[in-house]
Amino acid sequence: MEKKLKDLDKEALEKIKKSNDIERLEKLQVEFLGKNGKVTAVLRGMGKLSPEKRPVVGKLANEVKENIEGELKTRLNELKKEEEKERLKKETIDITLPGAEVSRGRLHPMQLIIGQLEDLFLRMGFSIEEGPDVETDYYNFEALNIPKNHPARDMQDTFYVEGDFLLRTHTSPVQIRTMEKQGPPIRIITVGKCYRVDELDATHSPVFHQLEGLVIDRGISFSHLKGVLIEVTREIFGEEREVRFRPSYFPFTEPSAEVDVSCFKCQGEGCPLCSRTGWLEILGAGMVNPRVLEMSGIDSEKYTGFAFGMGLDRMAMYKYEIEDIRHLWDNDLRFLKQF
Ligand code: PHE
Repeated sequence: MEKKLKDLDKEALEKIKKSNDIERLEKLQVEFLGKNGKVTAVLRGMGKLSPEKRPVVGKLANEVKENIEGELKTRLNELKKEEEKERLKKETIDITLPGAEVSRGRLHPMQLIIGQLEDLFLRMGFSIEEGPDVETDYYNFEALNIPKNHPARDMQDTFYVEGDFLLRTHTSPVQIRTMEKQGPPIRIITVGKCYRVDELDATHSPVFHQLEGLVIDRGISFSHLKGVLIEVTREIFGEEREVRFRPSYFPFTEPSAEVDVSCFKCQGEGCPLCSRTGWLEILGAGMVNPRVLEMSGIDSEKYTGFAFGMGLDRMAMYKYEIEDIRHLWDNDLRFLKQF
């Protein structure tokens, strides 16, 4: 019996050493020490031994049992450590690999130019007003001194909605709404969409954007208008681009001017983009016509003012050197990603 125990001990130790996974160890545990295990079987047979032998064999059996248990535990720990090492090796991260590219959204060029202009005007003490896209004939035309027979009212130029309603053809109606609402002094801008019956081509779109400005106070003169507009063109186009004021006509301003910047494409030499003039038109402006002030309840003897309206799509084209207005609204990522 003693020999048998020693043989079992040896057998178990060898098998434990050779086992390469935890599952195998568990099986060995059952094989030797389980309820029907080999060592257990020997212990069960102890009843047949003589009383003198019993304690000797019992002691040995316990030693063998403890020994096997100990070995199992040691091997288990070894295997666990190896497994952990393998796992760590597999999970190693190569921090020198390039990361996955995160594609970030960005502002549309129109938003960029609007943001830049709003910042500038806010710094100059202007506040921002809003007006509806669907206007009445009164605010879009009548109150701006645009007579009934004016060509702008033509069905060919204006989108009429129904009855008296139309899609505003410019942001100037916000001038009238502001004058009615708050009275002088006034220093506001407004930004928004305008609509005209235009064929879509490289330089025209039936929906476009304007930024309108209105300043009314005592003693406002044309030189104030000039100062503000020169500041704006400098901010948007830089000091290098030349600016010129050209006499013009609008029913709601007197005197009126149009403002041009030197052509970005030919640097003023003359090319197809600027119709060989060397200049690109960006805005209309002038001193608010006294009749317009009076119609909105402002005393034109006491107050004077100026107004201007800029074509933002055109300005974005000239600033970012975009040759076709349609690029702005095509939503082509190859274009949009450049800003
Ligand atoms: N409303 C004019 C246009 O759309 C621009 C303008 C605004 C001109 C204010 C003078 C003063 O063409």
